[in-house]
Formats: sequence, structure tokens, C-alpha cells
Amino acid sequence: MCELIINGGNRLCGEVKIQGSKNASLPILAATLLTDERCVIHNCPNISDTNTAFEILNDLGADVISLKDYVTVRAKKLCNDKIPQDLMGRMRSSVMFLGAILARCGTAVICNPGGCNLGERPIDIHLRSLRRLGVRICETNGCIFCSLGEKTAGEVTLLYPSVGATENIMLLCAGLDTSVRINNAAREPEIVDLQNFLNLMGADIRGAGTETITIYPSHRLHGCEYRVMPDRIVAATYACATAICGGEVSLVGAEPGHMRIVNAALCATGCEIKNNGSGILVCADSRPKAIEMIKTLPYPGFPTDVQPLLGAVLMTADGDSELCEAIFKKRFEYYSQLELMGADAEIKGSTLVIHGRERLFGTEVSAADLRGGAALIIAGLAASGTTVVNNVHYIDRGYESIERDLKLIGADIMRI
Ligand code: EPU
Repeated sequence: MCELIINGGNRLCGEVKIQGSKNASLPILAATLLTDERCVIHNCPNISDTNTAFEILNDLGADVISLKDYVTVRAKKLCNDKIPQDLMGRMRSSVMFLGAILARCGTAVICNPGGCNLGERPIDIHLRSLRRLGVRICETNGCIFCSLGEKTAGEVTLLYPSVGATENIMLLCAGLDTSVRINNAAREPEIVDLQNFLNLMGADIRGAGTETITIYPSHRLHGCEYRVMPDRIVAATYACATAICGGEVSLVGAEPGHMRIVNAALCATGCEIKNNGSGILVCADSRPKAIEMIKTLPYPGFPTDVQPLLGAVLMTADGDSELCEAIFKKRFEYYSQLELMGADAEIKGSTLVIHGRERLFGTEVSAADLRGGAALIIAGLAASGTTVVNNVHYIDRGYESIERDLKLIGADIMRI
């Protein structure tokens, strides 16, 4: 079991390269199942969730080679259409393989996925959409058996713009010889990255980034070489770290267009943010200012994944702030740990009312999920004294090496 030891109080200065996106890499890895040719993926982050994806690919019969600069996947022949319970239970994104396995094999067997405990996370929108597209689904004894119906075509309207459900439908329908339209699709940049990857494989998908995505008829998909987009949540993590500690940090490779609303929120706390050609430059000179109210929403709204990170910053702001979490029911768990560090807030339904305190104090705290864990690190960087963060395996699901990156910009942090 690892823990991170942080001696808080350092200003952050320098450059940090932003890793490839976790949430873009995972569906792209699933997409490699759609061809028997080799796919080469650059900028795939070396994190535990992508390693779980490699295990799923291996278990299905694909060859995965993970090198320092790129990953190759060749699914020449699949030996299996089932994802074992253990692998399904390790991460939510294992469900993303459903559409790709179905497209390749005609059948697929999964069970309910695991992942960070952010409250109830059903997959009803995925299953309802697949049924609407003609997939036969039978749920028994915790297993979900799926098989392609006669015709996968037409139109599906999502009741909520679910990121995973949008990706699952794209993965099922790419490379078909009929058209499928997704209405009320998720608009996240990771969806655009998946569209770009699938189109490079020979699919004809248009509209990602808008609420209507159309998958047009195309030929058989083939191998390709692709570079995954930068991780906007990792970039937001280091931006929030700078906002709370003060300093000047260049987020190399961060995509300003993906970060507009996060940057606007950080500017409201008093940061200065510029696009500096190689990414984003974040400057913070004084104690963060409180902000009136931020509500998490699907993209292009404020990302739920950044809510805990901004929450940590606002705990030290000068005044009261409100964060309303509209996507996940259990995403304020991190507050109980920040309270041990001297933070002061109240949970009122889906809103966290934060009373900013000038100082937080280092103590021993435990991560309960990925972004909540990163929020504890952000708080520890600004706290006086030493903070020990336990349960680092949650944080390793999404960050290649958060301590390496933070050390580079001047933080006093080490892993034991
Ligand atoms: N939902 C349903 N039924 C469904 C699907 C979703 O009720 O069938 C609900 C969820 O319970 C949740 C909301 O809809 O309340 C949003 O879920 P969505 O499907 O959009 O999210 P996801 O695909 O499960 C992805 C990211 C999450 C990120 C959310 C929202 C990946 C691998 N994960 O999850 O990332 O929080 O979108 O933006 O892409 C993270 O990186 O830490 C993380 C949790």
C-alpha cells in the first residue's frame, strides 16, 4: 500500500507536460477490436485504468504491446466474447467494450461494471439504446447476454447525454453499412477524439462535439496510427494546484479550447490564465477569491471531475462559495477528509456550501475515489505541516505519476 507525504506551503513554478487523456484512451482502446489489423496509439497514459483495458484486450485474444512512447494493439482473431467479472469490476469503462465486442463477434457477455464509487451508476441508458438499435439483451444471474438483431439501423435518442452510452453506440455502429443517428449525444472532447480515431480506421462518423452524431455507412475498418488528446482533467488538477499554492505554471500540451469553463472559474478565483502557444500558463499571486456558485453540467458545462479539485481550492478562499453537483450523487465524499484538515463547509442536498478558511493543516487523510483523492493532494500542497494521503491506488487510476509532475513544479511530495 502506497501513501503520499506532502510538506505544504511551496509556491509552484515551472513547466509540466500534460499526459494523454484517460477518458479518451479507454474507448479508443476498445475501438481497436473493430479491426483485425494493427493499431498504433501514441500518448496513451500509463495508468492503472489503461492497464486494465490491456488486460481486457488480452483476455479477448488481442495482442497488446505497451512501449514507452506508444501502444500497439492487434486483435487479429478474438477467442472470446466475454469480459470476466473481475475485470468488469475494476473500472466503469469496461462497459465500453460491449459495443466493440458486439460489432466484432455478434454476441457479447458482460456484467455490471465497477469503478469509483460516486453514487449509483446504472447502465440503463447504454442497454436501452442498444435495444433500440436492435440488440437482443437478456439479463440473468448478474450476467448481461447481448446479441445483434437482424438490423442495426435507425435513430436513437438518449434520455441523458451519457458519455459512455454515446461512445458505446459509436463503437457498435462504426463500420456498418447502414446509417445510425444519435440524438442528445454527449458533446465531450473525448467523443470527438473517438470519432477522429474511428474515422481514421475508415468509419464515416460526423457531428461529434454537437448533440447529433450520425454514423454513415462505410467499408470494413482497418488499422491506423493515432495520437490521443491531452487529459483536460489532469491539466485542471495542476491548474487548481497552482491556484491554491500561488506561482506560475505552464501546462505544456494542454488544449485551451477544452478548458474554457475551468479557466473561467479559476480566473474568478483570481488566477490569470493565458494561452502561451505550447499550452496554458496559470499565474496566481494571492489567496483565492470565493466564487458565487458553480454547477456541474455535461460538456461544455463545468466538469464534474473538476468539482472536487476546485472544491479544495475554495476551502482556502476568502469568503463563501457554493458548488452544486448535478451529475453524480456521491461526489462530496472528499469533504469529510478536508474537514480533518480544518476545512469548513456544509453539504445541503446537492450543494456544498464552503466557508473559506485562511489555512488548512496537514494530517492523515484517505482518498475514496480518483478525483476526490487528487483534491486531497491539492489541499495538502497548500496546508501547513505534513499531509499523508492514503489509498493512493485510486489516484493512480488516472494520473501517471502525480508526485513526479508536482515535484517538477516545486512541490515537496514523495511516495512511500
Ligand atoms: N447514467 C445513468 N445511466 C446510464 C449511464 C449514465 O443513469 O446508463 C448517469 C450516471 O449515473 C451519472 C450520469 O448519468 O449520474 C453521467 O454518466 P456518464 O455516462 O455521462 O458518465 P460515464 O461515461 O460513466 C464519464 C467519465 C467520468 C466522468 C463522466 C461525466 C470515462 C471513462 N469516465 O463517465 O470520468 O465523470 O463521464 O463527465 O469517460 C473520472 O475520470 O474520474 C470520471 C469519473
